[in-house]
Amino acid sequence: MLTKAPRGTKDILPDKVGNWLYLENLIRKLCGQYGYREIRTPIFEHTELFQRGIGETTDVVEKEMYTFTDRGNRSITLRPENTAAAVRSYLENKLYADTNLCKLFYIGSMFRYDRPQAGRYREFHQFGVEALGEANPAVDAEIISLAVQFLKDLGLKDIKLLLNSVGCPKCRPVYRQRLQEFFKPVIDEMCDDCKSRYDRNPMRLLDCKNEKCKELAQDAPAITDCLCDECNDHFHKVQEFLTAAGIEFELDPGLVRGLDYYTKTAFELKYVPLGAQSAVLGGGRYDGLIEECGGKSTPAVGFATGLERVLLALEMQNLLPETNYDTDVFIVALGDAVQAKAFEILANLRRGGFKAAMDFAGRSMKAQMKQANKANAKFTIILGEDELQANSVVLKNMNESTQETISIDELLNKLTTLTK
Ligand code: HAM
Repeated sequence: MLTKAPRGTKDILPDKVGNWLYLENLIRKLCGQYGYREIRTPIFEHTELFQRGIGETTDVVEKEMYTFTDRGNRSITLRPENTAAAVRSYLENKLYADTNLCKLFYIGSMFRYDRPQAGRYREFHQFGVEALGEANPAVDAEIISLAVQFLKDLGLKDIKLLLNSVGCPKCRPVYRQRLQEFFKPVIDEMCDDCKSRYDRNPMRLLDCKNEKCKELAQDAPAITDCLCDECNDHFHKVQEFLTAAGIEFELDPGLVRGLDYYTKTAFELKYVPLGAQSAVLGGGRYDGLIEECGGKSTPAVGFATGLERVLLALEMQNLLPETNYDTDVFIVALGDAVQAKAFEILANLRRGGFKAAMDFAGRSMKAQMKQANKANAKFTIILGEDELQANSVVLKNMNESTQETISIDELLNKLTTLTK
């Protein structure tokens, strides 16, 4: 136990951190281009926020939340997603006060107690984007464009954009009724979750992961046949804007998403070779959530992408850049008497902007040279007692296998010239 991370969690080791920094840098640049500003909310929130926001009949709330009572007897939940928290912060900090469209993005850990497998973890990382305050379908299209550009900028190919509308509280009652009629003859064959959701929220039956239920739901009526005029018009306009922006999409009437707050637009980006966890990114409009959380009725739209899945897809397509951890200069210090001087040179080199390192274990010349090679050092500085006496060092160019003796006072200038 002591030497094993909890199931479904993973260390990000130093040789992989470069991949994460690569993603994060690209995200910050892209969000800057689109005018989205970063927000950092707490890792945990009041449980009620997610119960109310995500929906009591969803898998996330019913089975997957990390919920505990804190020492003050409050029910606290590690965030399973960040849209509800972004909305909470938007209301608490009155982020609506000086803009009619508040554009936010976030990067961070989320927590869901699900069965771990490739691409599905209990702690995972999302990059998400939320645009709060505007009902215009152009904003849906802007959000989708950003999502598509994110994966394109990474070089990912064969990504499918699936698009649907899940209607609104006006058109949904008609659809719920049609769904109940459709499922009534087969509900006894479905899983316990579906049975209990049949009355409370029959749309969840379309999202069940059970194979048998999936099969039974295959020919269920499509919500797009029940949309009210407003939702229908919105859905068509989103498609028009996407076409105008040159974004290809596929309509998928079966796409309902796993969280209850969605209204109108729902979309997912899929990378099929990832198999069961092929949903790399998902989002949609959630015009009722802000009011549900205690604010004024305010339209909003957003998405989130699982960065572990993005990294898996990048790995499969061989698109991860090499990270350079090479050292510029390695100092080989020989003997106790030269240690302080070597340390002074090391400090000066680092102050001068070089990636510098030295051996601290008093190893032999051969062992230290080996270390310099392992660190891929471009230059090695050799400092022995004779050199110290002469206030000089031997500077070795590791790539060209040449060396020269130079004064310590000239070292920094010399290296600066050589590395320009
Ligand atoms: P979601 O579909 O639940 O939506 O999650 C978004 C993405 O997070 C998924 O497409 C997937 O890539 C990743 N993801 C989810 N669960 C896991 C897991 N257990 N392990 C690894 N990756 C996972 C949301 O979370 C919404 N808040 C998105 C949103 C933002 N809608 C509007 N605004």
